[in-house]
Amino acid sequence: MCGIVGYLGNKEAYPILIKGLKRLEYRGYDSAGIALLNKNGELNVYKKKGKVSELEAFAKGKDITGTMGIGHTRWATHGEPNDVNSHPHYSQSKNLVMIHNGIIENYASLKEGLTKRGHTFMSQTDTEVLIHLIEDIRQHENMKLGHAVMVALNQVIGAYAIVIMDKNDPDTLFAAKKGSPMVIGIGKDEYFIASDASPIVEYTKNVVYLEDEQIAIVRRGEELKIRTIKDKEITPYIHELEMELEAIEKGGYDHFMLKEIYEQPRSVFDSMRGRLNSETGHLKMGGIEEYETKFSNARRILIVACGTSWHAGLVAEYLFEEYARIPVEVEYASEFRYRNPVIYPEDIVIAISQSGETADTLAAIELAKSKGATIFGVCNVVGSSIARATHAGSYTHAGPEIGVASTKAFTAQVTVLTLMALHVAKVKGTIAESRYRQLLYEIEAIPQKIEEVLKQNELIKKIASTYQHASNALYLGRGYSFPVALEGALKLKEISYIHAEGYPAAEMKHGPIALIDEEMPVFVIATKGANYEKVVSNIQEVKARKGKIIAVVTAGDHDVKGMSDHVIEIPETDETLVPLVSVIPWQLLSYHIAVMRGCNVDQPRNLAKSVTVE
Ligand code: AGP
Ligand code: GLU
Repeated sequence: MCGIVGYLGNKEAYPILIKGLKRLEYRGYDSAGIALLNKNGELNVYKKKGKVSELEAFAKGKDITGTMGIGHTRWATHGEPNDVNSHPHYSQSKNLVMIHNGIIENYASLKEGLTKRGHTFMSQTDTEVLIHLIEDIRQHENMKLGHAVMVALNQVIGAYAIVIMDKNDPDTLFAAKKGSPMVIGIGKDEYFIASDASPIVEYTKNVVYLEDEQIAIVRRGEELKIRTIKDKEITPYIHELEMELEAIEKGGYDHFMLKEIYEQPRSVFDSMRGRLNSETGHLKMGGIEEYETKFSNARRILIVACGTSWHAGLVAEYLFEEYARIPVEVEYASEFRYRNPVIYPEDIVIAISQSGETADTLAAIELAKSKGATIFGVCNVVGSSIARATHAGSYTHAGPEIGVASTKAFTAQVTVLTLMALHVAKVKGTIAESRYRQLLYEIEAIPQKIEEVLKQNELIKKIASTYQHASNALYLGRGYSFPVALEGALKLKEISYIHAEGYPAAEMKHGPIALIDEEMPVFVIATKGANYEKVVSNIQEVKARKGKIIAVVTAGDHDVKGMSDHVIEIPETDETLVPLVSVIPWQLLSYHIAVMRGCNVDQPRNLAKSVTVE
């Protein structure tokens, strides 16, 4: 999620900041900005939608002098990507500027209070509210800036990595973090601040990783000071960097895909952030609320998407039909747009897209809109074409997904779609309160369950080595696990180039069973649930024909273990939510097989991250 950089020292800040932002480009972003304090105490802020190179072009010929500055590449969460919403953001007096990585969940209530106290805002961002709050506290409580930052951060709910500059203090940068990353580089009479070590490593190997709820006071000519937001002094622990630049960009992982698989506990949590409170049973789905009536009265829901997003749509079909009792049709966008479909004005169309730029999905939206349907988007990129083409929507907040094979986007999409289905079911009264509360509670436990599965990476890697030379593979699942069978097959084929097919387990006897022999690995999701016994029968049908069974099972299930060649145990999970956990083994399996086969995991042959052509 975006990038932040800061510099305070004896060199010109601008080139260091720009180069630092370019080092962070791999994190994905939609706009960029920079603030510099020149030697006359003038604060110069330049910020633009678009690439860092466009920011450079914009700043050309302007005053870019100063030995203190901050820079930001934005991955929008609140307020579409444009110049005004780009960072840095000013305080009310324009004496303070701030950059921010993260989400201030309670920004709306904070903004309301500040507006009542006469604050006016230029942007739609949550970030601008925070810097206004900091200044408001400083002025009204007559505090030093560092203290005002502390008091303000105690009022904030959400994630932040922030750096603040005060026009009237040319020797100090204030930085703080919670939930978003921040590293401070300690050079000779100079300091560097960044989201990770990639912009820092060429200047110094001595870094301090700020911990959650810590504030760093970076002052020219002084030792680094760190305090908690509860005003407790912390002794900085200086690490010596060993990682090389390329490894740092991938967070120490060998590939972006593996990094993104491991980010899923965080990205699933972020997709719920500010939306789910299992204590109160409150679900706040912004985009849905204004269309609650439409959803409640919908005669049917059409879902249009492609690839992995289409698989998330299939999960949504089970969810909306089971809980909201609304008929759902899931359509490949590329087919939908050309088959002259019947579309009613009362229809609701849910368009699912990680990139928000998939041409077929965009065209399907335009077709449905032309027939009067209401379009709801589930996208990962704020302000993307699909997000802007829909009437309303919910962002997945999974952060940039760099690997072509979609992983964290899928689990974030399924999380958001689950919350949507439960919200509509609650409004319609088609779900029992007890079941509703139980599912909210279970959803909150999903990030931890994903963590548990990730700990089995070595076992999954071993299984991968057994099947790395397979020519074909079959993925089976029933009910909520059928879409996961399709997703597992897509993951394997798109990055390892092994032909793989996903099937409803019961469909085996209608054809695919003819494929079974000792060369055919069959990957089955056989977790406890309504279809468990039937899936066990399917496993036995495969075994009777010498097929190899690799099963994802509920932890402690020794029955399936006894009839399988390999099992991967996942924590007991409500059947409705199993896709969020059972997909992880298939992601890791396909990753390891692809690596073992020497494939280009992050950029598989013939594929693009965003299919913007038909
Ligand atoms: C999935 O791993 C693939 N990268 C691909 O199928 C992708 O899901 C599809 O192209 C849809 O992309 P979107 O979600 O950005 O619209
Ligand atoms: N929530 C802030 C915004 O939307 C920061 C997003 C980010 O991390 O780039 O501007």
